[in-house]
Amino acid sequence: MKGKVCVFGSFNLDVVAGMTRFPLPGESLIAQHSMMGPGGKGANQATAALRAGARVHYIGKVGNDDFGTFARRHLEKTGFDAITLFTCKEKPTGNALIYVAGNDAENMISVYPGANLTVSAAEVARCQPTVAAADILLLQLENNLSAIQRMIDNARAANTLVILNPAPWQKISDALLAKVDLLTPNSTEAMLLTGVTVTDISSAQRAAEALHRKGARQVIITLGMAGALLSTETQQLHIPLFPAQPQDTTGAGDAFNGALAARLAAGETLPQAALFASAYASVCVEHAGAAHSMPSYADGLARLKAFADLAPQPLAEWV
Ligand code: RIB
Repeated sequence: MKGKVCVFGSFNLDVVAGMTRFPLPGESLIAQHSMMGPGGKGANQATAALRAGARVHYIGKVGNDDFGTFARRHLEKTGFDAITLFTCKEKPTGNALIYVAGNDAENMISVYPGANLTVSAAEVARCQPTVAAADILLLQLENNLSAIQRMIDNARAANTLVILNPAPWQKISDALLAKVDLLTPNSTEAMLLTGVTVTDISSAQRAAEALHRKGARQVIITLGMAGALLSTETQQLHIPLFPAQPQDTTGAGDAFNGALAARLAAGETLPQAALFASAYASVCVEHAGAAHSMPSYADGLARLKAFADLAPQPLAEWV
């Protein structure tokens, strides 16, 4: 079954430099390779949801410039059910400068959101029928908070399930957290949201508990090499990391979130969808680039089957 996922989020033009190590402040360092291509957490997650088996409507905003034209051409041929791409006359298309370095292909990213931060109330209102028609609305925090809040309110009014990936972190209220059905921070974002330093599964359990107290009913905290913690008011599970040969970790979180939304929209349970998302993200990191590295559903399934012994593990109830 193909569920319908609406993704509201950023489009950025990514400039990526592959390095043997990260440059130091004040240092010029020769890159091993470089590429320029489509990115932005919203567009990446929309691509992941599509490739992981959902019907996807992507909503975003770009500048009235060459990168905006590039975005529209790229998005139109990606295979989405539909795109709603607004254009901003005052601000340029968002861009991101990305370094990838080290044995684990870690990344450092600076984002200039540009047009992504200019989505108006009238533009959100035009998207209301799209949000209402979706099974799931998936959002991040790379747009202006006013638009994110309105989109979430519209989703709730239409009984569309809301998944918020709070990346990159910006301050959000507990009232907003309480409107989200599933919150998916990484360890840094979980720490910024709760004040709990998240370094391992048990500290993630404490952060999840703090998020539940703030009103977030279901939480998945991604923990890098330690996998992920799935926490609801009734269960806590450890979602394992799948083995991978990392080339570029850029977009791994986007792969996880897009695949998670696609599999939930297809009717899978939260633990099943989270396990698939972990397998899917492990295939994503084996390819360079963000949007271009999103695997197919079949690739994610093959990784899942290759490590059939990996399964969600129940954790002691509360710490
Ligand atoms: O999550 C990776 C993405 O973060 C990149 O594509 C970049 O554009 C930033 O939004």
